[in-house]
Amino acid sequence: MFEEAQYFAPVATQDDGSVVVELASGHPGFADTVYRNRRNAIAALALGHKPGEPIPHAEYTDEEHHVWALVTQELAVKHGKYAVREFIDAAARLRLPTERIPQLQEVSDLLKPITGFGYLPAAGLVPLREFYGVLADGLFHSTQYIRHHSVPFYTPEPDIVHEVIGHANTLASPRFAELYRLAGRAARRVETDEALEFVSKVFWFTLEFGVMREDGESKAYGAGILSSSGEIEEFRGMDIRPLELTAMGTTHYDITKYQEVLFEAESFDHLEDVVGTFWDTCDDDSIARLAASR
Ligand SMILES: [Fe+2]
Repeated sequence: MFEEAQYFAPVATQDDGSVVVELASGHPGFADTVYRNRRNAIAALALGHKPGEPIPHAEYTDEEHHVWALVTQELAVKHGKYAVREFIDAAARLRLPTERIPQLQEVSDLLKPITGFGYLPAAGLVPLREFYGVLADGLFHSTQYIRHHSVPFYTPEPDIVHEVIGHANTLASPRFAELYRLAGRAARRVETDEALEFVSKVFWFTLEFGVMREDGESKAYGAGILSSSGEIEEFRGMDIRPLELTAMGTTHYDITKYQEVLFEAESFDHLEDVVGTFWDTCDDDSIARLAASR
């Protein structure tokens, strides 16, 4: 439903140094002053964070912890039905808290011994090159706020449910973690904006919204599908196409709706062969050739 680089509420620092998250008027938390103050405080934590320091502690309300518990329970059932085995095994290894929102530092501490990945707090939008680039260093930028408690199964923007239930569980798989690292190296290697966009679109259609064949069925491995209790029920009815680099790198998508076009790998090996090899070897020229072959 959303992309890291495009879908965040803007964050502004005022003349007096205070931080304001500009929620759109249609946002479920728009009229909730208490929620908005908390969003501002959480954004300020991320803006004040220095690399190498522990991730600041974010405060959540009981209602917000309850949202986490509800969504965790709901998604766990759906993961059993719709997620690839690699994801289910990785989630079992990571053992995220089920009754309360984990702190990002805690998520990092759980992930580190498994795949070496760690989290960085993000106030909102992180520039594409920075967001993808640090994946090469085993670092993942993540928002820290949670969706508004009035609509526990809906969020108009990537929140900690998406970042952690979707991405951290995936990052607890050594095979997936390696693909994230390769995407990061690709983002650092390419120089043109066009090539970077191509790399990020391949990421979108795989690690955010990818599906793969498993035991004769379509299973999801993309964090965007796996963190959305609505989308996970719908993806099998979408236009599912074969995994193909040029198509993924050039297909337009609408971030505000369920993804109608998905790309399916035949197996995990197939995903690594096609997408892993692409990220491992691509450069501006090879991407320009792929884009021109459309
Ligand atoms: Fe994401």
